[in-house]
Amino acid sequence: MKCKVCKELAVVALPSHHAGFCASCYLDFFSRQVERGIRGQGLFTREDRVLVALSGGKDSLALALELKRQDYQITGLFIDLAIPDASNAARGVTERFCAHHGIKLLVKDMAGEGLAVPLVRERLRRPICSACGKIKRYWFNRTALENGYTVLATGHNLDDEIARLTSNTLRWDQSYLSDQGPLLEGEDGFARKVKPLWRLSEFETANYAFLMNIEYHHTPCPYSKGASFTMYKLLWQQLEESMPGRKLDFYQAFLERGRPNFAQRETAVGTKLAPCSRCGYPTSAGLCGVCRIKEAING
Ligand code: AMP
Ligand code: FES
Ligand code: ZN
Repeated sequence: MKCKVCKELAVVALPSHHAGFCASCYLDFFSRQVERGIRGQGLFTREDRVLVALSGGKDSLALALELKRQDYQITGLFIDLAIPDASNAARGVTERFCAHHGIKLLVKDMAGEGLAVPLVRERLRRPICSACGKIKRYWFNRTALENGYTVLATGHNLDDEIARLTSNTLRWDQSYLSDQGPLLEGEDGFARKVKPLWRLSEFETANYAFLMNIEYHHTPCPYSKGASFTMYKLLWQQLEESMPGRKLDFYQAFLERGRPNFAQRETAVGTKLAPCSRCGYPTSAGLCGVCRIKEAING
């Protein structure tokens, strides 16, 4: 197969785009997709101070490198969850990546906050992944707001987004459907949140990471049974094979024509938020979710 652009030998085949690319034209393709993702949805500009949540995985590291190459003002944020072996390995990879590429990195240590995930797991009698997600989102938000970042970016890709959309749709979850997308506007006490890789599949970011020589952390979390939404990802893989391009079309059509219907109705049923009585984080329940986790641990 030949590169669609320069006719050299292709090294990456992308049926969804009916194209093959050589290494250099593939990197241009990837950059254009990220740029379209950012501009098309008005995610942020070069004036913004962007805090990029780095897990040490390929998606978030690929995102940080590409944003840096495109001259955005970025800083990395790693949340150290203190999970034996996994957190240390992911932290090492992230620190080396940032040092190598000259990216400033903030690290938040959950053990020091009394929120080491193994401890939370031991004391709480509910699935750890949802508590862990809550802890991560809390620190993404707090770190962004306390340090004057205007945007918080995560490495979620098209496969993550489409699987979540499928799960929300199968339940016709009005409130999640109204919020889902690459941009969640900031509001009182909440940072603006963006997912600039929303146009790119996991396969596409993996290719970018490979071609850019990014060393990343592969091992899944020892506490989760597998990646989230695995079932929906498998279904979509089959659909995409027989209908190349369907994934991106479906997601874009949702943003343009599906989501507005849910958003209008959500404003009527919105809940009232007030600062957490202990830490000031916005909550609808007096004490925020993370302060409640702390209370349960110490209780
Ligand atoms: P996941 O939910 O693990 O698929 O991660 C989704 C996104 O959340 C990643 O692409 C990162 O941007 C961010 N993320 C996950 N875990 C961490 C972490 N420990 N520290 C910082 N960011 C993270
Ligand atoms: Fe949070 Fe596994 S990363 S429970
Ligand atoms: Zn609180």
